[in-house]
Amino acid sequence: MRTIDWVDGAVEIIDQTALPDRLTVRRLHGVEELVAAIRTLAVRGAPALGVAGAFGVALAARLHEGDPVATAAAVHLVENARPTAVNLALGARRAAARLPEGPDAVLATALAVRDEEIAAAAAMAERGADLLAELCPPRPRMLTHCNTGALAAVVGGTALGVVIELHRRGGLGAVVASETRPLLQGARLTSWELGQAGIECRVAVDGAGPFLMARGEIDAVILGADRICANGDTVNKIGSYAHALGAHRAGIPFIVVAPESTVDHHTATGADVEIEDRGPDEVLGFRGTATAPASAGAVNPAFDVTPYDLITAIVTDRRVVRPALGERV
Ligand code: MRU
Repeated sequence: MRTIDWVDGAVEIIDQTALPDRLTVRRLHGVEELVAAIRTLAVRGAPALGVAGAFGVALAARLHEGDPVATAAAVHLVENARPTAVNLALGARRAAARLPEGPDAVLATALAVRDEEIAAAAAMAERGADLLAELCPPRPRMLTHCNTGALAAVVGGTALGVVIELHRRGGLGAVVASETRPLLQGARLTSWELGQAGIECRVAVDGAGPFLMARGEIDAVILGADRICANGDTVNKIGSYAHALGAHRAGIPFIVVAPESTVDHHTATGADVEIEDRGPDEVLGFRGTATAPASAGAVNPAFDVTPYDLITAIVTDRRVVRPALGERV
């Protein structure tokens, strides 16, 4: 089943806010509906956002055919629904470039964006599993952060796709899913996806990661990216940087897996990336229940930057780059 797809003139998504309690498919007919789904993380993860961006423009092209002003406004809304993952704006812009040719041309490009992500996932899984065999002891014990499985892509995923491929080859030791506060993509989504794949998984609170590494219980950290800058600095879910520091201190590989569509050659370093601030509510409560006193404020950066020199390898659908050895993306 695909996380996101174009079905009979509408966008279908698995609603990730309902997981792991319910597997719900939603049909989105309008641009505003799609933008709301992006903002609430009903559809999320960099590759899936790229496809959502392209499909959003395909919806706009159909709904506002013959009205360039309304189309442009809708495209702007889609492109800017979230700021950090480069895939969203990239997918939207690629589809928007076909607007002068009409809605069918826009949809054809959106479907191509989807198909490219499907092909990229398969290539990353193979290359990443080969790299782990090279860098890690046999049957490595992996720690992963956030959710980078099929839910975050269209099928397959990025880092979690590698973990699943390693399992398929009989070469996986164990997996720890870092819970990923505040929205629990690791606890809710990664552990659910691993369960679906028949892989045992233990969830750990985010702060446990570096300590587990120090205690020699993790052989490698593997995670995804929302934007990889020209110098190799990698922007990913908040908490990634702490895991990178822990891996560096423990002397274990820190591996980023992402499609080429996440590599942003136009942004020099992580300092140049807009980090989404999602406001206090997600930190001060969960699903409507307060977890802090009403008097408390909060700071909620949704992503952080892992400097390139802490990254052992970046695996894409086309290559392996080793930023810590000074290789440029
Ligand atoms: O806020 P989210 O859940 O969209 O953040 C997602 C991540 O940070 C993922 O790790 C990243 O997009 C890689 S997805 C294959």
